[in-house]
This record gives sequence, C-alpha cells and structure tokens, in this order.
Amino acid sequence: MPEFWPEPVYCPDRGRGFIEPRRGGKHRHISVYTAQWRCSLREFTVAVLADVHGNYLALKACLDYARARKIEKYVFLGDYITDHAYPQRVMELLYEAAGRYDCRFVRGNREDYMISYRANGGKEADGSVWRDGSCQGALLYCYENLTDRDIDWFEGLPVYGSWQIGSAPPIAFCHGSPYKTKDQIYSVEALEKLAQLPERILLKGHNHRFFSFWHKGLRAVCAGSVGNPIYCRTRAGVVEVTPLAKVAQMLLMHYEGGRWVPEYVTVPYDWEQTIKNLELSGLTKRAPVWAAMLRHNVLTGTDPFGRVPQRAVELYRLDTGIKAAGWAGVPEEYWVMAAKEYKIELVPENLW
Ligand SMILES: [Fe+2]
Ligand SMILES: [Fe+2]
Repeated sequence: MPEFWPEPVYCPDRGRGFIEPRRGGKHRHISVYTAQWRCSLREFTVAVLADVHGNYLALKACLDYARARKIEKYVFLGDYITDHAYPQRVMELLYEAAGRYDCRFVRGNREDYMISYRANGGKEADGSVWRDGSCQGALLYCYENLTDRDIDWFEGLPVYGSWQIGSAPPIAFCHGSPYKTKDQIYSVEALEKLAQLPERILLKGHNHRFFSFWHKGLRAVCAGSVGNPIYCRTRAGVVEVTPLAKVAQMLLMHYEGGRWVPEYVTVPYDWEQTIKNLELSGLTKRAPVWAAMLRHNVLTGTDPFGRVPQRAVELYRLDTGIKAAGWAGVPEEYWVMAAKEYKIELVPENLW
C-alpha cells in the first residue's frame, strides 16, 4: 500500500464525482466509492510532543526519531520550558520545527507563568519576585534565559486547537484541558465540558504519563512527557529505577483504516549531558533541591515533585509551628531534609 494516496477532490467540470491528480497537472476521474475507499486506506501519522520542560536533548532525540520515520505533521502540547537547563535551546528547536514541518502548538501552564510574570513587570500578581532557591530558582533562571520574542510567541498560542487532516476525523489538542492550561482532566467540571467538544478525540499533556480513556464517546489520549516522564511517584526511603529512567516519551497518532490509532514511543537520549547541564548552567546552585529532583527523575523515571515540596512545608510546620502559605516561604534547610527522606541525593556522584 502506498504511504500516501493523492488527495481526491470534487470534479470542477462534471460537478460531481472526484478527480485524482496525476503528475504533470493531469487528472483522471474516479467514482465516489473509489475515492472513499482510497481515503479509508490512506495513512497519516502525527507526532505528538508534550511537556519538554527545558530538556532540549530529549526533544532533539524525539524530533530526530520522528524525522527518521518521515513524519511531517506535529502537535506540540505545551510546558516547553522551565525546569531543565538552557530553555533557549528548546525554543530554537521549536522555531526550527515550525519552519520545517506542518505543526500545531498550544501553550501550557509553564508558559502562562512566564507570560503573567512579564505582564506584571517582572513580578508575581501579589507583587513578590522570584528568588534563587529550590522553590523559584529554576523559574527565575528560565525567565532570565528567555527573550521577549519567546514570551510574545507563547502569548500568541491558544489553549486549545482543532486539526482536520484530509478526510480524517478532526483531532482536538490541549495541555491540561481545552479550557484551562492547568486543569486536571479527571475533575468533574473538566469531564462535563469534554462531552461538549465537537471532536471525538482529544490529545493532551500535563500529566507526564501515557494513558487513554473514553468519556461519553470522546477518547482522550495523554502524550506522556518528552523531558520529565513519570512512571510512578517517588516513595520515601527507596530509590526505584523504573522503565522510564533515562528515556524521553512521545506519542504517534496513526490514521489508518478510517480511525486514529495511538502508538506510545520511548526514545533514548543523551541523559548524561542533561544531568551535566544542571551543573554547568548553575541550576544546582540556584535551585539545589529542585535540580536534585530533576536529576532523580531522569535517573529513575519517578516523580518527586508531587511529594518532596509538600513534605518540606510539613517539616517546617512541625518544627516551627508556622504554616507556610506556599512553598516559597519554606527555608532551604527544610527542602534538604525532605529530599533526604526521599533519598534524593544533592551530590551527583552518589547516584551515578
Ligand atoms: Fe508539565
Ligand atoms: Fe503542565
């Protein structure tokens, strides 16, 4: 079967039936049944990339992999930047992909953080500023390494998009939910709204995991994470190395036989350099525990981000009686204590 049949279009001369373009500007007439049959056999593949989080080496490996499979259509699902070192290199890869391929982009909650920080004149909405340390150091580092052009580009991205490719059913795509970058897709409100979408398939990011579920005739497919894939949460007291250690994730959506079929892919990449970059960029000094959690995630495929900051807040409260309003109010020493409970090493050599 050829990879791509020429697009049948309505015949301008006869007013009905289809023509099939041929080389040299010629065409031939085919019946509507033949056109439908050809459409049903046609195969497209769309590469779907979510949650790069600054890990440009993981993104590069995924783009190289997709190019080797001759993929020309891409959907990018947000959270391109923040966390890993050298976000400007992610931006270069995205701009290059936008110029070379047929791409669609939405923005994630991390892009929203950058947009609103700039909109407030380099401040949070409450007037506070980001400072070095494990809570905000990685955000501040990222903000300093982006240009106005980058943040302008984020501002131009939609929260939700829809893509009709050829005769395939349209696909919807978003970061958290089609209505908010940071929505949790399983919330009652989000699920209620999902049923109102005109599309029957939704590609999403934000969860950093591969999964798929059906809800009232709509199939939602989560594309995992290019830069920070998650197999399970990090547990206190143990270092678990999972199948998602040292790999990037991406989703391929194939349109074949008249339906969309997901293929979940893990891609090896230069994870050693990604870890070295945390040191080289200064992130290990500017956000010590956050950088250590990033390293831990790369090396194990587990997620310390949901547990360790909360534990730091708790340890601070137990020790001082002060209930911090957020992570930013917790002194660094409590982040270090929480990291130790979860066996997250601040000295890289201990985990190699
Ligand atoms: Fe994310
Ligand atoms: Fe997100």
